[in-house]
Order: sequence, then structure tokens, then C-alpha cells
Amino acid sequence: MANQKSRDIKIHQVLTEVLKKITPSEKEQYETKAFIENVLKVTDEVIKPNRLQRTLAGSYMRDTWLPNKKEFDIFILFPESCPREKLERTGLEIGKKITKRLRGEYVIAYAEHPYVRAKVFTKPVTEKSKSLLRKKKVSMGSSYEIDIVPCYAVQSAEKIKSAVDRTPFHNKWLYDNMSPALASQVRLLKQFAKGIGVYGSDAKVLGVSGYLCELLIIQYKSFKNFLDHASKWEAGQVFIDLEEHHKDDREKIMREFKTQPLIVIDPVDPKRNVASNLSPENFVKLVKSSRDFLEKPSEQFFFPEKKKVSVGELKKIEERGTRIIGVKFQKPDMIDDILWPQLRRTSRRLASILKEHEFCVMGHDTYCTEKECIMLFEMEVWSLPKIRKLIGPFVFSKKHSDEFISKYRESGRIWVESSSWVAEIKRKFIQADQKLRDSLKDSEKNLLSKGIASHPAKSISKGFDIMDSKGVLNLAKKNPGFAEFLHSYFTKRVV
Ligand code: CTP
Ligand code: MG
Repeated sequence: MANQKSRDIKIHQVLTEVLKKITPSEKEQYETKAFIENVLKVTDEVIKPNRLQRTLAGSYMRDTWLPNKKEFDIFILFPESCPREKLERTGLEIGKKITKRLRGEYVIAYAEHPYVRAKVFTKPVTEKSKSLLRKKKVSMGSSYEIDIVPCYAVQSAEKIKSAVDRTPFHNKWLYDNMSPALASQVRLLKQFAKGIGVYGSDAKVLGVSGYLCELLIIQYKSFKNFLDHASKWEAGQVFIDLEEHHKDDREKIMREFKTQPLIVIDPVDPKRNVASNLSPENFVKLVKSSRDFLEKPSEQFFFPEKKKVSVGELKKIEERGTRIIGVKFQKPDMIDDILWPQLRRTSRRLASILKEHEFCVMGHDTYCTEKECIMLFEMEVWSLPKIRKLIGPFVFSKKHSDEFISKYRESGRIWVESSSWVAEIKRKFIQADQKLRDSLKDSEKNLLSKGIASHPAKSISKGFDIMDSKGVLNLAKKNPGFAEFLHSYFTKRVV
């Protein structure tokens, strides 16, 4: 009991300390507010002739943002009657105009609709300052990334035409249901999720979104109470339904989401699980980390030390006796949400091609730098004999026996085992990297038909490199991010 009490005190101390670090300073709050207000003012001026509405999305509205965030979204709301093509075109025009007025720079990004992703400096950029900046003679202050996203203003969130149309409804629901006191608790949960590596519901991370953190805190009222519950969660057994949409059909809806470890019904859209992107692996991480934190509270969970991985440490990989093969190709120019599912599909497919040829893959994963993707395969079996044994038909079946013999008599020995013909035949590929090279050295069209996803297929058809363990370790020497990725691949464990 005394133990529990001293632990509670410790938890309180840690959380107080963390909160100090994750609450933006008054200066930052003031500057951010002024910056956003100006962006909104400009937006209003730009969209006035189009008679459209806009809304700011996400954490800035609810004061649940973390320091140094420097990115936010503005949604431009179009009437439902507007054709999609016009929404896309006008959406981009508006985004470009806003960026120009703010003297920023933009790229066009693609999600369900194309949209403008602007980079705007807190100190306005002029041609002169740009050139000084290139020569690194001036500091530009900080910059913000602003996504200017067109969406439909639909009647209710159940009638949405694309995922972004829900956000205005979330804003309204959270406005009615979240108190300022809860904002700091949301910040704790976000930082905790960040620290343990599960923050972000995008296809790359497959973790929890900011919105999900907000809902979880509304459900549990405090971060500590969230931990008390989450530490006992069991995959597939957690059902949170804040608006009680499924009072009467809970079993049915749980069956519908049965492959998803955590079910949190969207208060504004009863058919949606807000946690649908959370992978089982990250769910387990969240549960285990909650348990561990309650056992041994420490700031480490929120701010893990970034370890510098030495190559000596990576050499230990060799002690496992497995072999690594890396496949390197140019990173397709695509947003993470589209690219990452494709990269996962591709590495899964390549692993299964290797398996079909009897090379055993122990595990695989992908790392991307800004320019390159590196697919890693850890091989249990990477080398095979020149020959393999093929079991043929029953000796009692004359027709099949004749066919088998005439087909394989040239390739090597043929004999009988039990009551079946057996032939010894040559293997086409005796090294796993040979097989990989053979599969990948192909046209984009053929790669697609082999089951390689479209963006990787396009890039691989233009060229790729295959690296052995040594090549992979050499790359880790040059690239600390990749070294860290390798290290975490080989040391990952939940329990
Ligand atoms: N959203 C959602 N489901 C997700 C991700 C986002 O419904 N899986 C919607 C929510 O309406 C959310 C908005 O998109 O309010 C903005 O998303 P995001 O920026 O990810 O969330 P924030 O709450 O702003 O979190 P952060 O502080 O990390 O930006
Ligand atoms: Mg946001």
C-alpha cells in the first residue's frame, strides 16, 4: 500500500515535470496565435469572392498542440452541389493564392483530393532575403507548413464524400465536449504516444491520431486514469462509444471491427472506428508501456534518449547467423499515406516470392530516406544446393508416370521412393539475392503483374541495387538514421 502511494506521488511528479516541457511557452502561444490569425485573415480575403467558408482543423483549435508543432491545416468548405473537378481546381487556386499572399512556397500534395501544402516563414520572404538565405547570411525565423485542403460541407458526418469532410463535425463535437482542463491531459497522452513511437494514424506509423487521443481523454477524464485502463486492455475487447450509438447492437458492431484491436466509435459517425489504423503491434506497445509506466514511472517514456548506434553494435547481427539482403531503389515521389501501404505490400510479396523458391525469410521491413527506399530481408535460408528433389506421380498410374519420366529424364536421376516417382532436378537459383535480382529486373508492367505495387514497380523498373550484409552495414556507417532502424529491427521486443 505504502509502495502504491509512493508510486502515485512519483507519477504525479513525473507528469508535472513533463507537462512543463510540453506546454508551449506563453511566447510561443502568442506568436502562434498571431501567425494563425493572420493566415486566417488572408484566407478569408482570398475566399470572399467565392463565397466559401473555411475552418481551422485539429489541435490548434483546442489548445492540444505540442511545442514546436509548426504545422496546421485549413479546410476550405465547398457546397455539396459543387462538382468534384471544380472543387479540386478551385481548391488548388485558392491554396496557391493564399501562399502567394503570405509570400510562401508551396508544393501540390495528393491525398483523396490534390491540395496545396504551403511553407510560410514567420518573417516574410522577399527575393533579397531568399538570396541571403541561400548564402546563409540571415535567419528566416521559423516556418510553418500549412495544408490548405478543400472539402465538402455535408449535412452530417455520415454523408461524407471523402474522409476530410468529417473534420468540421469533429471540431464541433470537440468544441461541445472538451474542457480546457482536459487539454493538458491530451498533451500528456500525445507526448506519451510519441515517446513510445505510436503517435500518428498515418499509414507509415499505424498508431494513434491526435483526434483519438482527444477522445480517449474525454472518455477517461485524465491521463493517469487512461493509463489505469489501457494497462489492462485486451486486443479486441475494448469498446468505447462516447455517444452510445451502439447501445443496442454492440455485439454486431464489434464483430464488424473484429480485426481491429481497439474500437473507438467516432461520436459523429457511428460506422467509423477512429482507431482503425492502430496496428496490433502498436496496440500491444501502448498497453505494455502503460503498464510499465505505472510500475516504474519515468520521463523516459515521454522523451526517450536517442541512442547513437555504433557499427560495432550492429556487428552483433552476424552472431544471429542469419543473412541480410537489402534492396535499394529511388523513393517514389508520393505521400506517405499512399506509399507506405505499397511498400509493405511489396516487401511482403518479395518475401513470398523468395519463399516459393524455398529461401526462408525470417523477417522484413523497409526504411526510407528522403531519396531512397531500402527494403531489408533477414534470411534464415539464403543458399540452397544445386539440385532439388521433386516428388512425382504414383508408379501405378502409367499415363502420369510416362509423362513424368519423359519430362525429367534429361535433367538428372529418376527413382522410386515408396510408391512415387522421384526426380532430381537442377535449381535455377541457388542464392536468394540471385532470385531477387531475377524477379526485379523487369519492366514496370511485368513487375505489376508479379504483385509489386505500382509506385515501387515504377521506381524499381528504372533501377535498383541489391546489397549483402556488408553493404547494408556500410550504409549504416554512413547513415545514422538507417543504423538506428537496423538496430531497432534487431532488438525489437514487446515483452
Ligand atoms: N482526423 C481523423 N482521423 C484521423 C486523423 C485525423 O478524423 N485518423 C481528423 C480529425 O478531425 C482531426 C483532424 O483530422 O481533428 C486533424 O488531424 P491531425 O492534424 O492528425 O490531428 P490533430 O488533433 O491536429 O493532432 P496534431 O496535434 O498531431 O496535429
Ligand atoms: Mg493537426
